[in-house]
Amino acid sequence: MKVTAKAPSNIAFIKYWGKKDENLRIPANSSISMNLSDAYTITTAETDENLINDEVSIDGKILAGKDLERISKHVDLLRSGTKNKSYLRIESKNNFPKGAGIASSASGFAALTLAVSKALGLSLSEKELSILARMGSGSACRSIPDGFVEWVAGDNDKTSYAYSLYPASYWDIADVIAIVGESPKKVSSTEGHGLAESSPFYEARIRKMPEKIEKIKKALADKNFTDFGEILEAEAINMHSVMMTSVPPLYYLNPETLKVMEAVIEWRNEGLESYFTIDAGPNVHVICEEGGSDKIKNKLKEIGFEKILVNKPAEGAKLI
Ligand code: DP6
Repeated sequence: MKVTAKAPSNIAFIKYWGKKDENLRIPANSSISMNLSDAYTITTAETDENLINDEVSIDGKILAGKDLERISKHVDLLRSGTKNKSYLRIESKNNFPKGAGIASSASGFAALTLAVSKALGLSLSEKELSILARMGSGSACRSIPDGFVEWVAGDNDKTSYAYSLYPASYWDIADVIAIVGESPKKVSSTEGHGLAESSPFYEARIRKMPEKIEKIKKALADKNFTDFGEILEAEAINMHSVMMTSVPPLYYLNPETLKVMEAVIEWRNEGLESYFTIDAGPNVHVICEEGGSDKIKNKLKEIGFEKILVNKPAEGAKLI
């Protein structure tokens, strides 16, 4: 059977950094995110009885070695749940640069989980898909449900999954991404998670998480953009403080990243309300209310950024 699925990337307002269980990808804390309308992966999966191995290509490049291994391991996990033992031909395309801090692993593993499970004849619930996507890449579990999402940390395989808090249409906010760098990051987020505990600030971060999650959920429920923005911006800095103080330290920010951060603060002081967040890469996500996205885009151009992606909230993984 041949199946095509589309899944969005997502931006976390409260981040996942550090795991309770590395193999099962059980995070140290719950996280909150929004799916992105203009950063997605489209994956086609087809079973073929003549294949003697899974064949995987991403953006036209046939995978081998470690990259293929990570995907094959995930496909094996999905295959283990069915009687269908066929290998698959899998073609995946991203509409954004790979490995540059826009989580291609999130959209990639979400689209892969949906396409492959369907191609193998499985019919899974949203919760089951989220749990399985999590096994491929933690943040991928948040790209399965629609719109604004909470990933409940849980404490075992079955209790760690993401669900939709609100649909995409709930709140007209935007994520204007300034693409600062397109080269793959030196330390992957998978490796980075393993270092989190070595930071002296990690324990304090995790201890405060339940309170922070409650606060951002309240701001979301009230559509209070100022509270929402202040929490998400402080959270990004909190995570990067842990990254920069781990042993060895991880610096994902660069001078261009700092330039955008400072500009956002300045624009805000001038009355253009927006807040930044940054994942494990140099790109800056500028979060604003929908009416502000054109202005932010122009302002980013004025300070020298040419590559900009404007995202609205989006639905989760779907068959197309
Ligand atoms: C900084 O989901 O890429 O983007 O589970 O090892 O694949 P693995 O990690 P991944 O980590 C994402 C980290 C982050 C924060 C976030 O998206 O919550």
